[in-house]
Amino acid sequence: MTQTEIIQRIEELKKEKHAVILAHYYTRPEVQDVADYLGDSLGLSQEAEKTDADIIVFCGVHFMAETAAIISPQKKVLIPARHAGCSLAESITGYDLKKWKEANPDGIVVSYVNTTAEVKAWTDICCTSANALKVVESLPRDQKILFVPDRNLGAWIMKETGRMLELWEGDCCVHARITGDMVLEKNREYPDADILIHPESECSHDDRILAMPQAYMYSTAGIIKHSKNSPKKQFIIATELETLHKLRKDNPDKEFIPIHPQTLCGQMKKVTLENVLEALEKEQYVVTVPEDIRKRALAPIEKMMKIC
Ligand code: 13P
Ligand code: SF4
Repeated sequence: MTQTEIIQRIEELKKEKHAVILAHYYTRPEVQDVADYLGDSLGLSQEAEKTDADIIVFCGVHFMAETAAIISPQKKVLIPARHAGCSLAESITGYDLKKWKEANPDGIVVSYVNTTAEVKAWTDICCTSANALKVVESLPRDQKILFVPDRNLGAWIMKETGRMLELWEGDCCVHARITGDMVLEKNREYPDADILIHPESECSHDDRILAMPQAYMYSTAGIIKHSKNSPKKQFIIATELETLHKLRKDNPDKEFIPIHPQTLCGQMKKVTLENVLEALEKEQYVVTVPEDIRKRALAPIEKMMKIC
C-alpha cells in the first residue's frame, strides 16, 4: 500500500468505528498529520476523557496510553506500538516506590505523570512539568518530599522553589543528553533567539543557563505556546526534535533551531502509519489497568487537577 492509500484507509476506519487518533508531539510527522489531537502527556489523557469516540488510538508510549485508560476506563484505548516504552517511566517500579516510602514514613510522594499506573498507585500527588512548581509549593514548607522519577525535573524544582527534595535517580534518555554546554554553543551561534528548554533536560538546573534572560523552561505544550505568542523570530528548541514539525507548521514565518539533530526518542518512533492502520483494523493493542490499581492511580491525578 502507498502512504496515500494507508492514510485514506485510516480515515475510513476512523469514521466506521467512531475512533479518534491522539498523538504526542514526539511521534513521526506523518503520524502527527493523521491525528485528530496533538498534545503532551497529560493533555492527551485529558483529551481522551473529553472525546465521545468509542475507540482511542493513542500514538505515544505505553505509560501515556495507560494514563488515558486510568482517566477513561469506559473507553477502548489502543496503543499501535505495544513495545513503545520509556526510560523515565521504567526507572522505578511500584515495588521500588513502596519500599522507598516505607523507608521514609514522614515523606509525601510527588510523581511526575510520566510514570506507570503502579507507581501512580503509590503516589500522594502527581505533577506535570507545567505545574510541578505549583504542586510542590502547595505542600507545607517543612514537609519532606520524595520526588519521582526524574532527577533533572526535580533538581530544577529545587532551584526554582529553594526547597529540598529527595530525588529518585531516573531520567529521560533523550532530554538528559541536553547539556548546558550545548545551549551555550547554540546561543553563541544565534544570540537573538529565545531558548526554550524542557525541564527534563540536564541543563534545566545549570546555573549558567538559569542566569540567561532569554532561556525559558517549559513543558512541550508550553514551548509551543511561547513560540506562537512571542514576537521573536528565532527560537532554539531544547526538547525532542519532532516537536519542530508542529512549531514550523504553526509558525511558517519563524525560525526554529534544534538544540541537536539527534535529540530523538526512538520509542516514540515505533508508532508508524502502518501500525496505526493495523491498530484500527484489528482493534489492537488494548491497554487496560486492573481496577484496584486504576482507582489508586486516579486519586493522585485528581488531587493534582484540584489545585492546578
Ligand atoms: P510532556 O509531554 O509532558 O512535555 O513530557 C515530555 C516527555 O518526554 C514525554 O515523553
Ligand atoms: Fe520517555 Fe523521554 Fe521518550 Fe518521553 S522522550 S517517552 S520521557 S524516553
